[in-house]
Amino acid sequence: MSVIVPLDSQPEQAIEHLLDAAFGADRHGRTAYLIRAGMAWLPALSFGIVAEDGALVASLQSWPVALHPTEGGPLPLIMVGPVAVAPALQRGGHGRALMDAVVAAARREASDPLMMIGDPEYYGRFWGFSAEGTGQWAAPGPFEPRRLLALSVDGRPIGGAGMLGPRITASA
Ligand SMILES: CC(C)(COP(=O)(O)OP(=O)(O)OC[C@H]1O[C@@H](n2cnc3c(N)ncnc32)[C@H](O)[C@@H]1OP(=O)(O)O)[C@@H](O)C(=O)NCCC(=O)NCCS
Repeated sequence: MSVIVPLDSQPEQAIEHLLDAAFGADRHGRTAYLIRAGMAWLPALSFGIVAEDGALVASLQSWPVALHPTEGGPLPLIMVGPVAVAPALQRGGHGRALMDAVVAAARREASDPLMMIGDPEYYGRFWGFSAEGTGQWAAPGPFEPRRLLALSVDGRPIGGAGMLGPRITASA
């Protein structure tokens, strides 16, 4: 039987290998990577699935990002993804299990809103992610507006206008 584990229990090399298998080795230029450039993923909101033989077969990472409005301070967001399932095991419930885990954890800690670039047919259908409040959001690379999705986990409204980017905080 496979089990969900905190992703920081897994070797970095196994995570990178899985991401290459799911997305291809040229994945680093994607807009999602630019939005979170330089950030480290959040251990409390990142999960893996390990098979019986100990192999990492699915992973989900979450990142601290923000919407940077033209005026005013940044609005913190959590970027979810990539969600990666080993190609041979796709459509077997692993993606859903990982997403269930991150949404539950985010609700538990009443985290900042979740956002991602992903298929609304999947992330809307099961968890209620929507592009409704993201129409005025810009990104540092190309994206399809219908795939720029967000989910509030604490009742905070999704909206605002600005540029998505890493969550840089002023150093003390
Ligand atoms: C997309 C992905 C994470 C889904 O996880 P999974 O474990 O394969 O799929 P699940 O078993 O959780 O989901 C099953 C259901 O979701 C549907 N589904 C899966 N991916 C979908 C997609 N991209 N769009 C619409 N529906 C999708 C399936 O058809 C299935 O529906 P059904 O139960 O009605 O038959 C996985 O296939 C994957 O890693 N793909 C390659 C990388 C990728 O595209 N990642 C997502 C971008 S961050």
